[in-house]
Amino acid sequence: MNYLFEKSCSGEIGYDDILYILGLEAGAELDSVFEAAYKVKLKYVGNTAYMRGIVEFSNVCGCDCYYCGIRKSAKGLVRYTMSEDEIVEAAMESYRLGYGSTVIQGGELRSPEFTRKFESIIRQLKEKSDGKLGITLSLGEQDLETYQRWFDAGAHRYLLRIESSNPELFASLHPSSQNFDSRVDALRLLRTAGYQVGTGVMIGLPGQRLEDLANDVLFFKKMDIDMIGMGPFIPHDLTPMRDSIPDFESKKDSQLLLGLKMIAATRLCLRDVNIASTTALQALAHDGREQGLLAGANIIMPNVTEVKYRESYQLYNGKPCTDENASMCRSCLGRRVESIGESIGYNQWGDSPHFANRTR
Ligand code: 5AD
Ligand code: FES
Repeated sequence: MNYLFEKSCSGEIGYDDILYILGLEAGAELDSVFEAAYKVKLKYVGNTAYMRGIVEFSNVCGCDCYYCGIRKSAKGLVRYTMSEDEIVEAAMESYRLGYGSTVIQGGELRSPEFTRKFESIIRQLKEKSDGKLGITLSLGEQDLETYQRWFDAGAHRYLLRIESSNPELFASLHPSSQNFDSRVDALRLLRTAGYQVGTGVMIGLPGQRLEDLANDVLFFKKMDIDMIGMGPFIPHDLTPMRDSIPDFESKKDSQLLLGLKMIAATRLCLRDVNIASTTALQALAHDGREQGLLAGANIIMPNVTEVKYRESYQLYNGKPCTDENASMCRSCLGRRVESIGESIGYNQWGDSPHFANRTR
């Protein structure tokens, strides 16, 4: 499969190649695709996995995405919101553990108070870490002024998933108040504000065709995205999509494999971006994140949220590591990453080389 490596290096991976990769069954041919993607990863971003300690600060959400376990209409979960101090404390834990960066993620709200709270948190984190902690936000769609205030306070990366680049599929997953075009606009605003911009999709959604996924990869490329975070769709019991994939248990392996194929295709097509090996992969197989790294991903987001809150932040069924604390996660991860011959970039930001290349 060396031709895929060559083709990737000359920037020629296109729709047909991606579709071909996504359609492969497990076996020698697919293994060599993963090898090609890994070679491209080594060449463009290296074999160091970078960490972002993720703080899941609240499961109170103004959105009602049909797939998500913390959606506004979900009943039967305890809602929580961490205080400013608790968020700062948890994010600083990722600094103390040597992760170098934190991701602040939670339910999406829009209000002057919400903007002010995170502006203050970002400033505190910069101050307490002497400017050394890298800060990624995942706080949903906001206006340019809000994005700018948070950027000016010191955040420098932002994750906002498009979920699907097919507007019809997007519409089938969201109430009409959540709009595809405004999501795309928000990605552009983030770029205007100066962030390294991350997006991603869910993989293996009901009604999603391989062609849609191939277009998702091309969407990342067209939007000149710096970071990708994507993972397999996993039904959640408290959502309208709980039964949308009949007999999901028996489909876990193929769902995981499709997620890995998307990582490989994205690495081959985009080359120098950061790609996260997401927790959703680990929910489908205990070594799912290592498999993600071997398929071309280079970022891991260990949870640093206080254990007492983790049970309540379940976006999908079977989310792993809800009862291990941050330092247990750290040693477990260290072992896992070393077991596949990679190292961890402790105390470094691990910025997207693509961002450096495009802003040079
Ligand atoms: N399965 C997989 N991923 C999910 N997300 C939300 N619900 C699910 C689910 N059931 C993802 C979405 C969202 C991110 C925070 O979590 O892509 O952007
Ligand atoms: Fe939209 Fe959770 S409600 S991703």
